[in-house]
Amino acid sequence: MRFPHLGLLLLHIGTSGTAADLDRLPIQYATAEPNNVVSKLERRLKSDKTALKADDEHGYLPALLKALDVPLSSQLLVFSKTSLQRSRIGPKTPRALYFNDDVTIGYCRQGDVLEIAAADANLGTVFYTIDQNPAKGGKLTRQTESCLICHASSSNQGFPGYLIRSVSADHTGELVLSRGGKRVDHTTPIEDRWGGWYVTGTGGKQSHQGNQIVGGWSWADPDKPLDTSNVTDLKPYFTVANYLTPHSDLVALMVLEHQNETQNRIIRAGFQTRIALHEQAELNKAFGEPATQRNEGITRRIHWACEPVVQYLLFSEEAKLTEAVVGTSAFASEFAARGPFDSQKRSLREFDLKSRLFRYPMSYLIYSKLFEGLPAEAKERVYLRLWEVLTGKDESKEFHHLSKVDRQNILEILRETKPGLPKYW
Ligand code: HEC
Repeated sequence: MRFPHLGLLLLHIGTSGTAADLDRLPIQYATAEPNNVVSKLERRLKSDKTALKADDEHGYLPALLKALDVPLSSQLLVFSKTSLQRSRIGPKTPRALYFNDDVTIGYCRQGDVLEIAAADANLGTVFYTIDQNPAKGGKLTRQTESCLICHASSSNQGFPGYLIRSVSADHTGELVLSRGGKRVDHTTPIEDRWGGWYVTGTGGKQSHQGNQIVGGWSWADPDKPLDTSNVTDLKPYFTVANYLTPHSDLVALMVLEHQNETQNRIIRAGFQTRIALHEQAELNKAFGEPATQRNEGITRRIHWACEPVVQYLLFSEEAKLTEAVVGTSAFASEFAARGPFDSQKRSLREFDLKSRLFRYPMSYLIYSKLFEGLPAEAKERVYLRLWEVLTGKDESKEFHHLSKVDRQNILEILRETKPGLPKYW
């Protein structure tokens, strides 16, 4: 697959990173066996001798969402030409994304392919496409190069991960490069978020850049400019009936922003730990040391790789909400209902949405297969650091947002709901 138009975008996203190293030991990104929900689906389809079925309107999208248990309520719409199938994307034909904890799917109207990014226990993010032409049979194809151009660029420090940005786009969806753009995660102030995205939901006086195009909406009645904040109906902007749902839910978008960066940090910590341990093994071999020999420098590198994960799992530097936010789809209620719950019916998926995203600032991604896939050394370090913070032994400023009660609640919830915690917990 060749995408000759990508050069200009790279200027904006960052140059291709250290992707070449990914193909060496211990990662071997392109040749190692994937282990994620999509590779499992691929195997299931093969062994059942079944195939995904295409529908006339959206191709393989509905069948894929169903097969991977991705909720329709997670639909998000992005209209900036920032991704692979840029010619298909614009304010009248936004790109739709759908996600759960393990996988995100991208769909463009009249698109050549569905784009899939799966969180993989060994390989960070693994990318797939499905050709939307029914004659091709709905086969999943793993992509080991074309997606990494952006997804493993320098903005992801060369590791295959997720992207989410806030940009300025014009009425064609083209970027207005002079205005720049920025990566978005849970630390980004609301006022800097969502440029290039449709956003349905309300947040009172909190302004954001969603639903805005540079130069204004040209087809709107000049006496009645289209509103861009607190938008709950996208009908004035484009033909919403062309999509599976009419929403681009504000709460879903905030959750994906947290999720993408958390997963990126887990992925990076996993790779960095494995690379450090591999180097240690090589050193030990070269110097005839026992395999258990561990240099202090290697241990420090692993600790250093894990700290960004700890901070993110605990929502360090999360942007404050100054008023309540409410989405428009069933996303929040469906997401919260998934638990797991402790004996007091508390769950890390319970939303706050008044001053912060979640009621208990500890990420639900601790339950994810991606987290479970961290090398044992990294997981042990993360558990130790979480325990130090939650028991109040570590009161450094990164964790000042956690009250005594927060720490206690999180500790109790994790003890009851997270299997595999170390004994000292
Ligand atoms: C030109 C750069 C570029 C290329 C190449 C690219 N993507 Fe992306 N992708 C993006 C950007 C930027 C986003 C963030 C959302 C947006 O702006 O549309 C994104 C988002 C996604 C998402 C949503 C999850 C996330 O990371 O936020 C999926 C899924 C995805 N891409 C899949 C793919 C697949 C599969 C390929 C290869 C077949 C691919 N992408 C190639 C730029 C790219």
